[in-house]
Amino acid sequence: MSKRKLLVTGAAGRIGTAFIRAQRERFDLRLADIDISRLSDSTCEIVKLDVTDAASCLRACEGVDTVLHLAADASPHADFTTSLLPTNIIGTYNLFVAAKAQGCRRVVFASSAQAIEGHPLDVQVQEDMPTRPKNLYGVSKAFGEALAFFFAHESNLTTVAVRIANVAEFQAGERHSARDVAAFISERDVVHLLTRCVEADLSGYNVVHGVSDNRYKRLAIDQTRKILGYEPADDSFVILEGSVENAG
Ligand SMILES: NC(=O)c1ccc[n+]([C@@H]2O[C@H](COP(=O)([O-])OP(=O)(O)OC[C@H]3O[C@@H](n4cnc5c(N)ncnc54)[C@H](O)[C@@H]3O)[C@@H](O)[C@H]2O)c1
Repeated sequence: MSKRKLLVTGAAGRIGTAFIRAQRERFDLRLADIDISRLSDSTCEIVKLDVTDAASCLRACEGVDTVLHLAADASPHADFTTSLLPTNIIGTYNLFVAAKAQGCRRVVFASSAQAIEGHPLDVQVQEDMPTRPKNLYGVSKAFGEALAFFFAHESNLTTVAVRIANVAEFQAGERHSARDVAAFISERDVVHLLTRCVEADLSGYNVVHGVSDNRYKRLAIDQTRKILGYEPADDSFVILEGSVENAG
């Protein structure tokens, strides 16, 4: 059986690097980033891509089954006009348009827990709850979720918005805020989650949550487990051995 062709945007970033390391054999990967100096995998196709350029996005999506759209300015403090608007908003629009035009099957969009952080801290956010961004980075991710709905609604694209929380490596004995512990997702769990987003039997528009199996979770994963078969391996509370500091 032939492997699925995946376009991974933002492939040189933290999550892209972990995904590629783990899944380079499983998929036929086209790695794309604005900075390809950090991409040296000779087993994969590498393309220089600035997602703000619509024509380049169209070329990058040619022959692709699934777009894993990770490219972004991932800083919660990013400037709106000079960075979030071109990269996260226009860039994400360009990718959805290109995926549709090239007849791709699916777009997996890296949203963020920052899209829902405006919900009170004592409320566990469910997958079907609306976005409530508390910063403009979160607003840009809420826009991406809206695009994911729109393109699933008006075309044959299946779309998955993944509200990724806090990708981190914790060591026993470290102290982190209660929020960061409840939002933790390990690299191996985020790789497994994104793989399920590509492979699970889905249609239409879907929202899933990216946290590990933490004893308390800022974002619920019941629906994510159900529709994707997501089975996280890690629990931040176990890793830290109870060294949770109260959130400031
Ligand atoms: N790491 C986390 O904890 C976390 C949490 C929530 C959401 N996310 C989201 O997941 C995705 C990946 O996160 P990450 O931690 O790997 O981020 P990262 O900053 O490590 O990687 C982002 C990549 O995007 C690339 N990029 C930036 N502008 C680009 C452009 N115009 N065209 C093409 N590529 C461009 C960068 O060169 C970089 O390699 C992002 O969309 C981020 O917002 C990450």
